[in-house]
Amino acid sequence: MSASAKRQEFIQVSARAKSQEFSQVTVFSEETYRRAAEIKARYPEGRQRSALLPLLHLVQNEDGQVTPDGVEFCAEQLGITKAQVGAVATFYTMYKRQPTGDYLVSVCTNTMCDVLGGQAIYDALSDHLGVGHQETSADGKITLEHAECLAACDYGPAVTVNYDFVDGLDPESAVGLVDDLSHGKEVVINRGARLCTLKEMALQLAGFADEREGAVGEGPAGEPTLRGVKLAQQHGISPAGFDITTPIPSASGGNK
Ligand code: FES
Repeated sequence: MSASAKRQEFIQVSARAKSQEFSQVTVFSEETYRRAAEIKARYPEGRQRSALLPLLHLVQNEDGQVTPDGVEFCAEQLGITKAQVGAVATFYTMYKRQPTGDYLVSVCTNTMCDVLGGQAIYDALSDHLGVGHQETSADGKITLEHAECLAACDYGPAVTVNYDFVDGLDPESAVGLVDDLSHGKEVVINRGARLCTLKEMALQLAGFADEREGAVGEGPAGEPTLRGVKLAQQHGISPAGFDITTPIPSASGGNK
């Protein structure tokens, strides 16, 4: 998306948010206050304002977005102004300023994933769900968004659901995926634990561990990630200072 299109979209979203005026006032739970104290305690005395990023995820865990109440909460917790909180919250795309669904589906449409079919996946989902960028399906379950590099170019076209990777999708299987999510079917992904909701993920992003079995990935890099280094070894190519005979760890724990 071009810079001017992004700017235009930001203006539209802000106007929409203002028109809704967040009619509900959030009263943050005792648990959120307890967690906020825990987050702040991770930072040295006098440096608590560094806790802003996890605190913004924490308010998203409660509200599903960063509302004006969430901004106020963070400002009060850290003794900074709402303008300072707002400046950060509007800079990062992971902080949502409008209601989101249970599942945020991010499709990389950056150059490399686009070549590999990312835009085709995005278009198929957009048509099927009847939504555009950062819009939510009528049933409130799925929010769709373009992403510009999800740092998984080796697995392109890259798609994440609530920031967990779902590999190997094409337009048809991507539509099947969102249908399964909408109907509450369990979706098993090949990297990580069962998908959780966006609110649950916000809590993890605030720095609270995911205790579920299989939630923490282990083991060596996958085949697509190792493809480049294997090709380099095969052809005897290496950057200066890198020993081309360095062993590649295998899935069984040994070296290849
Ligand atoms: S270009 Fe799509 S993940 Fe990097």
